[in-house]
Amino acid sequence: MNSNFLALRPLMRAYQRRFAANLTDHQAAMMARGLPKREKLIGVEDIIVVASGKGGVGKSTVAANFACSLAKLGKRVGLLDGDIFGPSIPLLMNVHSEPLLNSRNLMIPPQNYNVKCLSMGMLTPPDEAIIWRGPLVMSAVQRLLKGAEWGPLDVLVIDTPPGTGDVHLSLTQHTHITGVILVSTPHAAAVEVTLRGAKMFEKLKVPIFGLVENMRFSICDNCKQRIEFFKDASSSKSLPDRLISLPLNSHIAECGEEGVPVVIKYPDTDYSTLFTQLAGHILQVMEERKTASGQDFRP
Ligand SMILES: Nc1ncnc2c1ncn2[C@@H]1O[C@H](COP(=O)(O)OP(=O)(O)O)[C@@H](O)[C@H]1O
Ligand SMILES: [Mg+2]
Repeated sequence: MNSNFLALRPLMRAYQRRFAANLTDHQAAMMARGLPKREKLIGVEDIIVVASGKGGVGKSTVAANFACSLAKLGKRVGLLDGDIFGPSIPLLMNVHSEPLLNSRNLMIPPQNYNVKCLSMGMLTPPDEAIIWRGPLVMSAVQRLLKGAEWGPLDVLVIDTPPGTGDVHLSLTQHTHITGVILVSTPHAAAVEVTLRGAKMFEKLKVPIFGLVENMRFSICDNCKQRIEFFKDASSSKSLPDRLISLPLNSHIAECGEEGVPVVIKYPDTDYSTLFTQLAGHILQVMEERKTASGQDFRP
């Protein structure tokens, strides 16, 4: 019995792989058929989504620091927290106040570090359990997206929950996403799900800017030696191009707790420079794409 079962295992795995592939094809077909019209957000030039397969890999940290770096480069920036169940932007950006409403009943995103922020965490009491299911999650995202006075903005950065669920679908179906930044640690389980996420975005024809690799290494404070945590990180080779590789660093963790992004509190450090490089690179890519597609009508 046991050996029969073992013999069947490769077959079962092959079937599961095929089934998974078919399922995504099927899902993509369903999504393509009945897609709501993608609308441009009034007054928002570009939308950048930060995503990954796993939780705890640094998405929100990257989203917050990337948004602040864009703002430091002089861009008008917004940061939408798409993690409806586990919002972390209020803590990371130290914005907790409930948004005011304008005369058209649109929420006015509170601002800190020159970034307009909006999160479900500002609208629900911190200890209240959120027990919404799919459609409500999707409408919550739409409310944050379209029920707010975001513009005028150069870039709206959207932090998302782990995986590729309702939030990601809702975003891709309803808005024009300029591109996605994937975040992952090099450990195999995180890489695998991040890759799956990348495939979903490819299927939905949402461009991927590349990967922010996080916590692959650390630099010793005393001897400045580089300490590698993942000796064999070959699995991450299958992921999209690496944009930057961020070290594990105690300042980054500390800033997450204090509500001051590391690029604000420690601007003259190697890791803050990496965030500035990331912001500069993405702005350049967007500029080049616009010029190439003839969308740039500025004199
Ligand atoms: N490079 C890093 N160095 C140190 N701590 C980090 C780093 N990146 C993220 N963290 C910490 O890891 C935890 C999870 O990060 P977070 O951005 O919330 O992940 P996610 O949004 O993917 O769940 C936070 O406490 C954050 O401060
Ligand atoms: Mg997060």
